[in-house]
Amino acid sequence: MISLQLEGRTVVVTGAGQGQGAAEARLLAAAGARVIATDLSEDMPDGVVASAADSPLYRRLDVTDASGWKDLAGWIGSQGWTVDGLVNNAGITQRSRLLDASVADLQKVYEVNVAGSLLGIQALAPLMGEGSSIVNVGSVAALTAHYPVAYTTSKWALRGLSQVAAMELGPRGIRVNTVHPGFIETPMTATVKPEFRQATLAETPLGRTGTAEEVAGVVLFLLSPLSSFVTGADIPVDGGQSGHGGAKAVSDALR
Ligand SMILES: NC(=O)c1ccc[n+]([C@@H]2O[C@H](COP(=O)([O-])OP(=O)(O)OC[C@H]3O[C@@H](n4cnc5c(N)ncnc54)[C@H](O)[C@@H]3O)[C@@H](O)[C@H]2O)c1
Repeated sequence: MISLQLEGRTVVVTGAGQGQGAAEARLLAAAGARVIATDLSEDMPDGVVASAADSPLYRRLDVTDASGWKDLAGWIGSQGWTVDGLVNNAGITQRSRLLDASVADLQKVYEVNVAGSLLGIQALAPLMGEGSSIVNVGSVAALTAHYPVAYTTSKWALRGLSQVAAMELGPRGIRVNTVHPGFIETPMTATVKPEFRQATLAETPLGRTGTAEEVAGVVLFLLSPLSSFVTGADIPVDGGQSGHGGAKAVSDALR
């Protein structure tokens, strides 16, 4: 039967302590998955509300730590579980501009946004079988010339990682897709300047920001058998922000 239900499936979500990751963990658990929510804190963060008796579970994981990934994979194997889904959601931003960004800025962001996702795929793909699904969380920055250069280049790099992974894991029946959120209301965007918000809204055909739950819904679709022939796809979840390529300002000016 084809449905959005994920009963019997085990899904790992990184950066699940707040924002989009927490919403994804909650929705996937509500869809019946055994969710292993992970984040930096030792204890289960408040945002990860258990919707079933045993899901989400919580484990501490710094995605930049290869040995942490190895421990997680070992623990999952020791429970007798396979992995059916991985959501590489953990990410950090860094807002320095082109002429100010340092190599250290780039390295810091790449370590989490790119290397963290690579380590996750390397650690968990061996536990995945036919029908498994990996979702990488990119950004509208990965589809555009968004100004914070370290963040934008890291998310473009993540697209490259996703495409290679889709190609390499496809023969094993493992799908890999990337969702690209636009302006989503989370703790990450709570600190942006009002000008950033206004300028983004002006470029967003739906005329509003998005919610973490709206990203989680697309992630659920990509983890479910309903998307069984979708791999190597870049899917914006951005209210249309990336789709018009700058044409919205012209259209609005001529109304
Ligand atoms: N909010 C937006 O508008 C937006 C837009 C585009 C893309 N994104 C992307 O969506 C994802 C989630 O963003 P969010 O807005 O929920 O962010 P957030 O800052 O609210 O939450 C990110 C979570 O990742 C965790 N994290 C950070 N570094 C980590 C590490 N090394 N190991 C494990 N966990 C770590 C944090 O502890 C936090 O819980 C990120 O990849 C972000 O780049 C967000």
